[in-house]
Amino acid sequence: MNISQQFAPPFKLISPYFIIGIFVLTFSTFLLFGMDISYAHSLNSSTLSWVHIFLLGFVMMIIFGAMAQLVPVVLEVGHFAVDLYYIIYPLLFIGTILMGMGFYYFPILLPYGGVIAFVSFTIFLLETFLTILKVKKFNFVISTVLVANIFLLFGLIIGIVLALGYSGTLDVNINELLKAHVYLVLVGYVGITIMGMSLVLLPMFWLSHSFSWIFVKSALVILSFGILLVVLSSFINVKFIENLGYILSFIALILYFFQIFIIYKTRVRVEVDIYFKSMVFSYLCLLISIIMGIIYIFNPNHNLLLALSWLGIFGFITFVITGHMYKIVPFLVWFERFSPFVGKKKVPMLSDMVPVKSANIQFIFSSLGVIIASIGILLGVDSIFKSGISLLSIGAIPVSLDFDIFSPPTSSQP
Ligand code: HEM
Repeated sequence: MNISQQFAPPFKLISPYFIIGIFVLTFSTFLLFGMDISYAHSLNSSTLSWVHIFLLGFVMMIIFGAMAQLVPVVLEVGHFAVDLYYIIYPLLFIGTILMGMGFYYFPILLPYGGVIAFVSFTIFLLETFLTILKVKKFNFVISTVLVANIFLLFGLIIGIVLALGYSGTLDVNINELLKAHVYLVLVGYVGITIMGMSLVLLPMFWLSHSFSWIFVKSALVILSFGILLVVLSSFINVKFIENLGYILSFIALILYFFQIFIIYKTRVRVEVDIYFKSMVFSYLCLLISIIMGIIYIFNPNHNLLLALSWLGIFGFITFVITGHMYKIVPFLVWFERFSPFVGKKKVPMLSDMVPVKSANIQFIFSSLGVIIASIGILLGVDSIFKSGISLLSIGAIPVSLDFDIFSPPTSSQP
């Protein structure tokens, strides 16, 4: 099947993103044993270091690998220059390591790590924008890709300024800029990207159809306004505008959550597989995180902020990613290894490629770990937090074995 690489990037281009991403997920899970939650603060150098190792080395790495595959599917045009993806992951990985060390050990390293990471992000943004320029007809999902990438660009520019402030090179108001940075990269890029891609992937994997998109379309517009207001309040420091931004963001997330509920209700495929369990758990974490966020506005308790961020990052984002990887990676491996033999010799079914037992084991340990760790964070009790991390680290082992995509699958080899 001779499909142009710009439409179907080769396996060897995408697999390093998934391998590095899963390695960093496992590594950063074990890093949590070094944190004492009773002294944790969002601005601790250990927290800042962990947050960037996890969000850049796992979340952004996997999103970029998936985008290499999904952009042609969503935009219905070939990549502008897909080979640029060969230089994005090494730069992002090196930038992430230097930023992690910069936050924790040597602040002077932070701007260098930041700039290397920034270069990798810029190459990704440039390739995506130039591919979007080839699009003739815009639709909702394409708009989410465009809006999310614009937010990422500005969030990263503020990140670089913050890094120069953190290393003492520049005198900046870190607390104010931090709000804009976090809102643009986490809510603006990661949030809106998941919003757009979930509208393509969930109906595709659940065979949901004939449902209205009105809730998610309104959510995108309201969330974009919410983000712009929070960013604006970072520069003009008006509390009313900041709170209005938060309220609009919560309304948007609730509308999005309702859209996902409608897709769940209209699904034809009702199989309770690892994908289904991961999606249900991740969206429940999103719902609880939203409720805790609303409580935080009226009762700004720091452990509450840490716990809702933990559920949003390690609950919602992580399970959306690992859940989709249990769908996408078996297909990529099957296509790479067995599609050439179709009709020539016996090949395994796609469903045989999913390691069901270890996938369920990782789900039980990881979901229990996330819940128990969030209780430990909320109460500020380190022993409860560490028992949650112990379960998470047990769950991380099957994940890294399941996605060891270089070693051929054992059982179903023809
Ligand atoms: C070029 C890349 C980046 C640079 C240079 C950068 C720099 C920074 C700096 C210096 C801070 C801390 C400011 C302070 O409080 O002293 C920060 C905080 C933060 N950044 Fe980034 N960042 C980058 C990319 C990202 C990305 C891609 C994400 C998310 C996807 C992200 C998420 C966050 C979060 C959540 C915080 C707050 C963490 C906390 O309060 O514990 N950053 N960033």
